[in-house]
Amino acid sequence: MEALALALSNDNQEETWHNFDNKEFCEKLSLHGFLNLLQISGLTNNPDVILLSEYIHNANSILEIGGGYGRVINACQQMGFDKKLTTIEYAHTYASFLKNHIKSCHIIEGDFLEHSFGEEFDLILMMWTLIAMFCPNEQKICLKKCSKLLKAGGYCVIDLLISNGSKEAKVSKPKEYHITDQEIGAERHGYIPSAFEVVKAAAMAGLAVRQVREYIAGTANRCLVILAKS
Ligand SMILES: C[S@@+](CC[C@H](N)C(=O)[O-])C[C@H]1O[C@@H](n2cnc3c(N)ncnc32)[C@H](O)[C@@H]1O
Repeated sequence: MEALALALSNDNQEETWHNFDNKEFCEKLSLHGFLNLLQISGLTNNPDVILLSEYIHNANSILEIGGGYGRVINACQQMGFDKKLTTIEYAHTYASFLKNHIKSCHIIEGDFLEHSFGEEFDLILMMWTLIAMFCPNEQKICLKKCSKLLKAGGYCVIDLLISNGSKEAKVSKPKEYHITDQEIGAERHGYIPSAFEVVKAAAMAGLAVRQVREYIAGTANRCLVILAKS
């Protein structure tokens, strides 16, 4: 009931920040800083991508939203995926890095919310809590767009943080954060939705839960919510 009340209370809230406000932080985060955050998150060895291996191998086309420095694309290729790979990345520094370092992948420099893809995909990946970089209203828009971009029988994967070592985030308690990184000189905002909120927004977007895979990465409990086009 607590989760339901929280989810409902978020429905009409006014947003004080948007996904676009996180772009400067991403532009300024160095590869070193990125890898450091990845290690803190316990994702250096790609436990998240490995857990999706059968979905990856069964797909003919994959879209990864927010390619970053290419961790997920690299991991898919290392697992032997040699079919159609596409990634979209809005930070110019990351997009340039991807274009210079990643082969056999269609790299789009652009904003997922704005870009017209003109094609559909078998598998769409939103990894490493990317969903949290969008404000709650945008999260719903993302799920609707994913639903439209999925082929019939396709899947969309949303990675979520369930709880971390300090128990700041719990599945029944969505968490909003605003951090000013003094070293980088930019703000980052986030809203970690509960699994319940994701499932509710997904249902409104025509996506049904196929599986929730929980896993531990570093000190955090995380989960992959795997949604199917219904
Ligand atoms: C948490 S990182 C994840 C990187 C990569 N997916 C991984 O798991 O290693 C999120 C990435 O998404 C990008 N991003 C955030 N919002 C985006 C948007 N609206 N369109 C495209 N890329 C976006 C950021 O620039 C950043 O590179």
